[in-house]
Amino acid sequence: MLTNLFLVLVLATATFLAKASDLKETKLSMYLQDISDVGNPNVTVIPVAGIAGKAWTVTQFGTIFVTDDYITETADPKSPGVGRAQGMYVTAGLDGLNSHVMISIVFRNKEYNGSTIQIQGISQQFVPGTEVAVVAGTGKFRFARGYATFETYFLDIPTQYSVIRFNVTVQHH
Ligand SMILES: *[C@@H]1O[C@H](CO)[C@@H](O)[C@H](O)[C@H]1NC(C)=O
Ligand SMILES: *[C@@H]1O[C@H](CO)[C@@H](O)[C@H](O)[C@H]1NC(C)=O
Ligand SMILES: *[C@@H]1O[C@H](CO)[C@@H](O)[C@H](O)[C@H]1NC(C)=O
Repeated sequence: MLTNLFLVLVLATATFLAKASDLKETKLSMYLQDISDVGNPNVTVIPVAGIAGKAWTVTQFGTIFVTDDYITETADPKSPGVGRAQGMYVTAGLDGLNSHVMISIVFRNKEYNGSTIQIQGISQQFVPGTEVAVVAGTGKFRFARGYATFETYFLDIPTQYSVIRFNVTVQHH
């Protein structure tokens, strides 16, 4: 009886180890083309809800933004496309400093076409290189886990156009 239990445990552990060693680690760096001027027909991030009577800004608690940023290989908007960053941001800190990020990286390039990486977590909006969690993935990123950073790489205030560098490190099957 004890021997059987021991065998079962050894087998279970072996399966777990075999699976863990199958994990690949992938590091990627890409650039989000972000236009927040709602007067621009090509706007990619829009506040859609907020507290009545308050300005719907990134520093106002309760403001929800929906986004669909085009992603490119380099900071140049004309560089080859990688995919889209689709999801939402919610200013979730009462002091307006923290934003809760729920974003899917939807790949459309040759290598990862159709695969996704799911990002979820608090981003400290004014801390460069703040980390957010990669909680899941699909396709080539099944079972993905890891972390990612968003940092403003280029900013043009008059046109409200920015390029955000997105670095991600994921372990996946
Ligand atoms: C919007 O995008 C189109 C297609 O890329 C471009 O031709 C146009 O100049 C852009 N408009 C503005 C205001 O940036
Ligand atoms: C990605 O997949 C879609 C649908 O299967 C296809 O239309 C498109 O050409 C593919 N893109 C690339 C870059 O392979
Ligand atoms: C992102 O990756 C680039 C290299 O691809 C590196 O130079 C940069 O420091 C990284 N940014 C962060 C916030 O880690």
